[in-house]
Amino acid sequence: MASRDSRIARTLLEWFDAAARDLPWRPPGRAGRRDPYHTLVSEFMLQQTQAARVAERFPRFLARFPSLAHLARADEQDVLAEWSGLGYYARARNLHAAARAVADLPHARLPHDPDQLTALPGVGRYTAGAIASLAFNTPTPAVDGNVSRVILRLEAKDLPLAGPGTLAFAHGRATQLLATEPARASAGALNEALIELGATICTPRSPRCEACPLARECRARKLKAQARIPRAKPPARQKHLRADSVLIRDRAGRLLIERRPRTGLWAAMWQAPTLESPAGPDEPGPTARQLPRLLHLPGLNLGPRPVETFTHATTHRLVQFRIWTAAAPRDFAPGPGPAGDQPREWKKQDQIAMLAISNPQRRILLADRDSLFDR
Ligand code: ADE
Repeated sequence: MASRDSRIARTLLEWFDAAARDLPWRPPGRAGRRDPYHTLVSEFMLQQTQAARVAERFPRFLARFPSLAHLARADEQDVLAEWSGLGYYARARNLHAAARAVADLPHARLPHDPDQLTALPGVGRYTAGAIASLAFNTPTPAVDGNVSRVILRLEAKDLPLAGPGTLAFAHGRATQLLATEPARASAGALNEALIELGATICTPRSPRCEACPLARECRARKLKAQARIPRAKPPARQKHLRADSVLIRDRAGRLLIERRPRTGLWAAMWQAPTLESPAGPDEPGPTARQLPRLLHLPGLNLGPRPVETFTHATTHRLVQFRIWTAAAPRDFAPGPGPAGDQPREWKKQDQIAMLAISNPQRRILLADRDSLFDR
């Protein structure tokens, strides 16, 4: 009789063969023989973003940077601009740096060995395993949150998803599955089947056990414990920030924008001149009179109140944006932004749309606000 692990591996591979979603980084080759550059790009995009969203953006990225050599030669601002809206921009910078590092290798090819892959910027153990297995069939695990959840449930292992020991446990079990006879020579497909199962069936809430190919093997299901495995962890504390953004328009209808500092949140991306400060019940934030001075915008008169406010959440921050408007006075000559190394430029909205900007700044800078400036 086949071992439990062999049964699990065979069932997963058969299921994936029949049920895999049609995603633009998957065809035409099966997992294990993918284009290595396509795999590098898709795995970077997928690091923090849902597959459906990546599916919309991946073809465009490849059209703009068709090969590793194209990406390595590209300007960082162009890579960031193409990444605009996907968030977590460090990924774009790391992807670009990784392409440059590979282009400098003797054969300018991505390594097959996960240890060599982890030497690249932004390539952790998961991404290294995904590239090595999906592109080259290297028998090495690719354990992300989806895979950890599947394995914790399969073994009824009552651990938190991100807790100590979970990754090691999931890695160990994935390695055992890869060593089975059915998975031999199909490492890429087995890893991607685990990812796919976690993304589509063995989901964090309300897993669809009735549709799961591994239902018969699943120990959490046997114990009716699938809802409490993995164990919930306390929610992360978000830092509360205020961001006062000033839309300044000149007589030619151009808007003043500045580049953000080179480090930190939304590093080096463009924005309307913006002041960040702590937010909270005891923090009223800067007034219309204070803002021009604090932002090094001498001579500017703001409207008395913000014209719009909205809240933008990132993983670690809750940012309360306030949008102010001002018409540029006749002899207005703004210098760089207060953080230094923050050049400022006048641009039309259609030029701004081509730059690297965050989603909240996109909302601030690209909305139709003509009526606000009518004088
Ligand atoms: N998430 C990470 N890698 C993926 C892949 N290859 N397919 C679907 N979702 C993924």
